[in-house]
This record gives sequence, C-alpha cells and structure tokens, in this order.
Amino acid sequence: MFDLSKRAVVLTGATGNIGPTVLRAYLEQGAHVAIPLRNEAKGAALRDSLGDLAGGPDPRVLMRAADPGDRAAMESFVEQVLRAWGRLDVAANLIGGYASADAATGDLAAYRTYWDQKVATIVTATTACLRPMRARGYGRVVNVASTAALKGEKGAAGYAMANAALIRWTESLAEETKREGITANCVLPRIIDNAENRAAMPKADPSRWATAAEIAAIIVFLSTEEASGITGTSIPIVART
Ligand SMILES: NC(=O)c1ccc[n+]([C@@H]2O[C@H](COP(=O)([O-])OP(=O)(O)OC[C@H]3O[C@@H](n4cnc5c(N)ncnc54)[C@H](OP(=O)(O)O)[C@@H]3O)[C@@H](O)[C@H]2O)c1
Repeated sequence: MFDLSKRAVVLTGATGNIGPTVLRAYLEQGAHVAIPLRNEAKGAALRDSLGDLAGGPDPRVLMRAADPGDRAAMESFVEQVLRAWGRLDVAANLIGGYASADAATGDLAAYRTYWDQKVATIVTATTACLRPMRARGYGRVVNVASTAALKGEKGAAGYAMANAALIRWTESLAEETKREGITANCVLPRIIDNAENRAAMPKADPSRWATAAEIAAIIVFLSTEEASGITGTSIPIVART
C-alpha cells in the first residue's frame, strides 16, 4: 500500500503486546526497523515471532541493547543505525504500561514513576533520533499515548497526566519542526485487545476493542511520506467501544 523501502525506523517499546504486530506492519511495507532493547531475551522472542517474514536473521531488522531512557545509550544506538543504513527517517514509540494512582492521595512518587516510564523515555529516545532527521530535512515521529490523556479517569491520575504531557510535548515538537520536513503525531488507543485486558475484564466483549493491527495501520500511515500534511495531531483509536 505504502512504500517504506527507503525508510529506516527506530521502534521503541517493541517487546510489548502490540510490538510484534507493529514491527511486522513496517516490514510488510518494506521498511528497515531498528529496535533498542532493555532485555535481549525479549528481543530474541520478538525476532522469532517474525517467522516467515524474516526467515532467519533479516538484515532489515537491527536489534541492539540500549535503554530508550538513557540519552547516551540512544545516541550510540542512533550512530549504529546510521552506520548500518545511512539514514534514520522515523521514530515510533510504543513504550508504556498501565499504573493506577489516585488523584485524591496526591501520590507524587507514583505520578513521577509513570512520567519517567512514559514521558522521559519517549522524549529521550526521540530527541536522539532528531539529529539525523533535521540534518536530512525529513522525519516522522509517532508516539503512542492513550485516550486517558483527553480526560482524567478515576484511579488513573498519573497515567492520564503522563499521557497528556506526552501529547503536549509532541505538539510542541511538531510546531518546532513543521518547516523542516518533520511531522510529529500521537495515536491514542482506548482499550487494546490483548490477553491482559481479557483477563482483567472477563465480562467485556473484546471484539469491540482495537486490535493491534488496527493500531499498527495508523502508526504506519503516519510514518509515510504521504502523511506529510498531518502534524501536531492526536488520533483517538476507540474502535467499537
Ligand atoms: N493495552 C491497552 O489497552 C492500551 C490502551 C491505551 C494505550 N496503550 C498504550 O499503547 C502502547 C502499547 O501498548 P502495549 O500493550 O504494547 O504495551 P506493553 O505491552 O505494556 O509494552 C510496553 C513496552 O514498553 C517498554 N517499557 C516499559 N517501561 C519502560 C521503560 N521504563 N523504559 C523503556 N521501555 C519501557 C517495554 O519494554 P520491556 O520489554 O523492556 O519492559 C515494552 O516494550 C503503550 O504505550 C500503552 O500505554 C495501551
């Protein structure tokens, strides 16, 4: 559908639930994908999950140990990507996780922990990727936040605040880079169909939830040259909820 065969993607948070589907979607459009790993065993499992697509060590997939929240590690990772492929066009960030934290308790430590997990990591990883994007005058940044960013929810104050902060940062980045060939956007899933959510909500109808493939399709589209007109947006993916 879209040609990403000349594009190199840095994909963070690829070892989570939707990571394998997003990775596969990029590879199916021809992209090269580089993945910083905190856990090499998870990386091996991710590579195995490619099965038929990779058919063994795929030169279009580069995995290296690097913590996305560590600026020096990410600078070094970006150098490795540039040495391997000579380019870096897309930063797509799936990093996240859910943590409850009440508003009424004012649990700043919990809020900060989630901010560190969600915002500090994605800001650090993305800014390391920006240097080659700015040098070439082309880039796509796609961050996964949550619809919880749009309205506070009972028991999820830290989660809502961190996701909202990520949107505001992404919008600011979009403003700063909009005349440099770079776009920056967020996608906002509500509930994703995965084993954890099925176990947590056994009475719910999972067919109403967004599938990983539905989310991957929007992420990949925002990563294409054809999406040049979209920047500073946050796209809710509520599926059938
Ligand atoms: N699941 C839902 O219903 C839902 C709803 C709305 C939004 N979202 C958002 O959608 C995104 C993808 O969801 P998912 O279910 O695939 O997430 P997930 O399974 O929880 O995956 C989390 C990913 O984030 C990485 N990560 C977590 N903490 C990190 C940290 N401190 N530093 C670096 N990496 C870290 C994990 O890496 P390791 O493997 O190294 O731990 C893993 O690759 C997330 O941002 C999530 O918040 C999910």
